[in-house]
Amino acid sequence: MAKFKAMIKLFPLAIVLSLLSPTAEAQQVTYLYHDCPNTTTFSRNSTYQANRDALLSSLSSNGTRGDGFYNTTSGRGADTVYGLFLCRGDVSTSVCQSCATFAVDDISRRCPVETTAVIWYDECLVRYSNQSIFSSVAEAPAIVLANTQNITDQDRFNQQLQATMDDAATQAANATPGAKKFAIGEANFSTFQTLYTLAQCTPDLSTMDCDRCLQFAMGNLPTGVRGGRLLTPSCNVRYEIYRFYNQTAVAPPPPPPATPRTPPPGGNGRRTWQIIVAVIAPIIVAILFLFLACCLLKRRARKKSEHVQAENGGCDITTVDSLQYDFTTIETATDNFSDANKLGEGGFGEVYKGVLPNLQEIAVKRLSRGSGQGAVEFKNEVVLVAKLQHRNLVRLLGFCLEGEEKILIYEYVPNKSLDYFVYDPVKQEQLDWSRRYKIIGGIARGILYLHEDSRLRIIHRDLKASNVLLDGDMNPKISDFGMARIFGGDQTQGTTRRVVGTYGYMSPEYAMHGQFSVKSDAYSFGVLVLEIISGQKNSNFYETDGAQDLISYAWKLWKDDRPLELLNPVLRDNYSRNEVIRCIQLGLLCVQEDPADRPTMATVVLTLNSYSVTLSMPKEPAFVLHSKSEGRMPYKGLESDQSTSRSAPWSINDVSITELDPR
Ligand SMILES: *[C@@H]1O[C@H](CO)[C@@H](O)[C@H](O)[C@H]1NC(C)=O
Ligand SMILES: *[C@@H]1O[C@H](CO)[C@@H](O)[C@H](O)[C@H]1NC(C)=O
Ligand SMILES: *[C@@H]1O[C@H](CO)[C@@H](O)[C@H](O)[C@H]1NC(C)=O
Ligand SMILES: *[C@@H]1O[C@H](CO)[C@@H](O)[C@H](O)[C@H]1NC(C)=O
Ligand SMILES: *[C@@H]1O[C@H](CO)[C@@H](O)[C@H](O)[C@H]1NC(C)=O
Ligand SMILES: *[C@@H]1O[C@H](CO)[C@@H](O)[C@H](O)[C@H]1NC(C)=O
Ligand SMILES: *[C@@H]1O[C@H](CO)[C@@H](O)[C@H](O)[C@H]1NC(C)=O
Ligand SMILES: *[C@@H]1O[C@H](CO)[C@@H](O)[C@H](O)[C@H]1NC(C)=O
Repeated sequence: MAKFKAMIKLFPLAIVLSLLSPTAEAQQVTYLYHDCPNTTTFSRNSTYQANRDALLSSLSSNGTRGDGFYNTTSGRGADTVYGLFLCRGDVSTSVCQSCATFAVDDISRRCPVETTAVIWYDECLVRYSNQSIFSSVAEAPAIVLANTQNITDQDRFNQQLQATMDDAATQAANATPGAKKFAIGEANFSTFQTLYTLAQCTPDLSTMDCDRCLQFAMGNLPTGVRGGRLLTPSCNVRYEIYRFYNQTAVAPPPPPPATPRTPPPGGNGRRTWQIIVAVIAPIIVAILFLFLACCLLKRRARKKSEHVQAENGGCDITTVDSLQYDFTTIETATDNFSDANKLGEGGFGEVYKGVLPNLQEIAVKRLSRGSGQGAVEFKNEVVLVAKLQHRNLVRLLGFCLEGEEKILIYEYVPNKSLDYFVYDPVKQEQLDWSRRYKIIGGIARGILYLHEDSRLRIIHRDLKASNVLLDGDMNPKISDFGMARIFGGDQTQGTTRRVVGTYGYMSPEYAMHGQFSVKSDAYSFGVLVLEIISGQKNSNFYETDGAQDLISYAWKLWKDDRPLELLNPVLRDNYSRNEVIRCIQLGLLCVQEDPADRPTMATVVLTLNSYSVTLSMPKEPAFVLHSKSEGRMPYKGLESDQSTSRSAPWSINDVSITELDPR
């Protein structure tokens, strides 16, 4: 009987690789586990080693061959080496190739002299042996990987898991000969959660052998947790509550076979030992990488900030000069601030389009007068804000300061602003769901940068659809950030009422008490998300279902368990249910009454990047209109807190390693 030998708890893991390099194309593979018993080894420089190495290089160079599976042999007689690789059924040829290439390298490093070996990754497995391994089942070693987060409602979950997994296994086993023995399955486990399952055998197995292997694997899957896998050399199964495979790459399943399932033959006496180990290791590498990247970024940030300080000290006047434009240049560029060139009017002043003599297009913001700020402070702030560069922020190119005139010069962003599309019944059709989802993600990254990644902690205070500009590719760019700094300190005591914020986006504590923090920006972001999803304006909402504003409407639908009804009707045919629901949930979390309950933008960005982050259930949102929160707002002075701990609030996926003794 199998007996637990060790259970080791590893540190909490955060899957944040994508956070750092969302566009990185590098095809990384995720190592899971390997097994090469050192009880049977070959001597160095032996024929077997030469054959093994030849086999591995043949596997690697044939990585694109076949249908994600390739088997071959090398050598003759007693020194024959048998080997194969198998890629997960949904990975592309190029990922399969990368994985095979990486794996053969990795396996010869991890198993330098071992006669038999197998190594698993998320994307593929590679295996070799001195015995023929083709067309026969190997259930050992069996590796269990378990997510240590428990699932609630276990009975229901297990029922669904078993049914869905069974289907996938039957489908995989009964695949037509020559095709991949691979299948996936989904089940709606609750309104908000979907269960995703996968089963795969090496295609050299017969239907019966594959079925037997999968039955064994399913029987030993961890239960009661949010995700688990069982890996054997011949087959593997996996389930998660997020989509971990590329569904579009999987061919539509053939009609379910009518053949009754073969009962698994009892007792597999071929091997007398069995190891089961549970790991969630894919990410250790990722963490190291993250750590390294953080260090690098920090170092760079520090360098940058030293630079800025030098400028503030007045040593680096050239920077200020290079940012400063003549008033006449700007007058010429905007045709004397002609109405024809006027793009709009914001809280801080009017905006004009202009063209510089070098033909560069610019947006010119002529600040309204009356800022109490002096010229020196103004310049200093502009220099600081001009240093903020992020692809989701509109770039500040410079300024102009002459007499009473204070002008900011920005890059010109062609596609107007988000409000121009999202509320317009015709134009909103140009924004399909994936576009909207990308816009939401871009806005979140831009705000995160303002809040945390730049040296200055900038609270935007006026996030709204009209402050999100769209570039030629419809990427969002936040504008008007840093206005508080540039315009002169604290707007709550400023000379212009209008700069305080925009009705409908203001968090209750800000609207009522002038208290702002990163969490008031989170509130505005939440409103924005709900608007993007619904195509409706929070402040201009037609009473629906007894709800007076968009937020209370969204909350009502959420409470009634029909969140998808919030979706803009033009999206109804084509959207990702999972993404939409997560976004609604995120939006509602952001508009919660207590600022402390709202997620930070770091959490928001992480959530949008990884389906594996679990969101809490939102509480009733704050309703600005009803001034519910008067007088009892627990406020923390977040803005002044420059040294807020960066420790991840989203710790997930505790990991356990379980090793079972041989039977
Ligand atoms: C095999 O590995 C075990 C544990 O890693 C080690 O204790 C043992 O010495 C190794 N045996 C040989 C022959 O290398
Ligand atoms: C294996 O061969 C290489 C060169 O062919 C030699 O340098 C090395 O010493 C040999 N190793 C053993 C253990 O014989
Ligand atoms: C690919 O496999 C074939 C057949 O096993 C083998 O002859 C060939 O050498 C391999 N390709 C390379 C580049 O090694
Ligand atoms: C691959 O495996 C099949 C059995 O599944 C076997 O017939 C074939 O010879 C193997 N290919 C090589 C190159 O060994
Ligand atoms: C494989 O290697 C093991 C250990 O060296 C040996 O006992 C076994 O006979 C070998 N099998 C074959 C088919 O050569
Ligand atoms: C999960 O459940 C097990 C027992 O059912 C318990 O020991 C463990 O503490 C739970 N873990 C979490 C994270 O709740
Ligand atoms: C899950 O729910 C969605 C929408 O409610 C539906 O389209 C889909 O078919 C369901 N999936 C399953 C496997 O029941
Ligand atoms: C999923 O697979 C499809 C078809 O093979 C491919 O076009 C798409 O780029 C893949 N998506 C991802 C995220 O890998």
